[in-house]
Amino acid sequence: MKKELHIDTLMVGDIPTKPDPYGAVVPPIYQNSLFTFESWEAIQDAFTDKVNNCIYTRGNNPTVALTERKIALLAKGEKAKLFSSGMAAVSAGMLHFLNAGDHIITLKNIYGPAISLINDFICPKMGVEVSFVSGDSLKELESQIRENTRLIYLESPTSVVFSLQDLKAITKLAKRHGIATMIDNTWATPIFQKPLTMGVDLEVHSCSKYLGGHSDIVAGVLIGSDALLASIHCLEYELLGAKMAPMEASLLLRSLRTLDMRMERHQQSAIQVANFLEKHPKIETVNYPGLASFTQSELAKEQMTGFSGLMSFKLKTDKLHLVKRFFNHLSLFSIGVSWGGHESLIYAPAISCMQEQSSEQFEKMGISLGDMRISIGLEQVDDLIDDLTCALNII
Ligand SMILES: Cc1ncc(COP(=O)(O)O)c(C=O)c1O
Repeated sequence: MKKELHIDTLMVGDIPTKPDPYGAVVPPIYQNSLFTFESWEAIQDAFTDKVNNCIYTRGNNPTVALTERKIALLAKGEKAKLFSSGMAAVSAGMLHFLNAGDHIITLKNIYGPAISLINDFICPKMGVEVSFVSGDSLKELESQIRENTRLIYLESPTSVVFSLQDLKAITKLAKRHGIATMIDNTWATPIFQKPLTMGVDLEVHSCSKYLGGHSDIVAGVLIGSDALLASIHCLEYELLGAKMAPMEASLLLRSLRTLDMRMERHQQSAIQVANFLEKHPKIETVNYPGLASFTQSELAKEQMTGFSGLMSFKLKTDKLHLVKRFFNHLSLFSIGVSWGGHESLIYAPAISCMQEQSSEQFEKMGISLGDMRISIGLEQVDDLIDDLTCALNII
């Protein structure tokens, strides 16, 4: 037997700490709020390491802990902590690093609600300052560093225009200045990108996307060092209380068994769809890091080992009635905001950006009416391409 098992093998198995008394092939769901103890001494002992012991499910639960161990292993982190949503994990991570009067540097085109969390919550409530940068220039980023900069928050690739940041260069710069780094790695998943091995301190995922993969859970995770995660556990996890439910953790555990296979399929189909769209006369541009023509293709290949299934493209027309006709004609692409599930989806960022952001912000993000975002699911790719062909033919 090989000493180190392949990650696919580790994801299929369930790395239990103790053998199941019934030989259950799937670990049981510990659907309980509370754990009881035999004596004063036993519960006192449990409190000596409440980060690892199960006392109350707002802190720890065996089903949740098992899923966390698996995700940490996958991302090459020492520890993972699951949250009730991706945004719960994003906010716990940001709040952990930031204190009143601090400064955060982030990108202009990170996930919209993460921008709102900074602009509408953290900055006004905590007197934190923020600088937004493009993310593709190290010089620009360095020029924004101040005495009070505590956190650089990244998302690579971003999930609308898919721009990348040079992770090794940024983490080197951040370490020189004693600044923490955090990255939203939802698009690439730990299968295709391992930011912790490139010096990032804290990795966050919306598990509602590929990690969950079946569009049946909303969840989030933070991954990092033992010490950092222990501190987040005791403060933001337990005190803000956005805990992961055991049932959800069990669904996530199921999903992790097929993550590698699903990502491979998403990737193969997405590359074919991106190539098809790029050549189509009614398409102006395609944003997909897996395309040979992608502007940051070299960097993409350097820091990722593959590409997921979410991409955006711009229709040549900007006429609302034609854009809507294309959008509404698709039959295999459901209309919806999320991504990363088994089903293919389409969304036009303009729909929510027009409502959630000011027109100034909307323009700054470089979004127009003809911009479409599609999530390539697990359907047969030829069917998806046929569906897109039909919808493009009628505009
Ligand atoms: C890139 C990215 N990060 C974070 C989130 C937030 O995750 P959740 O919806 O699980 O709170 C999302 C959700 O769409 C996302 O797209």
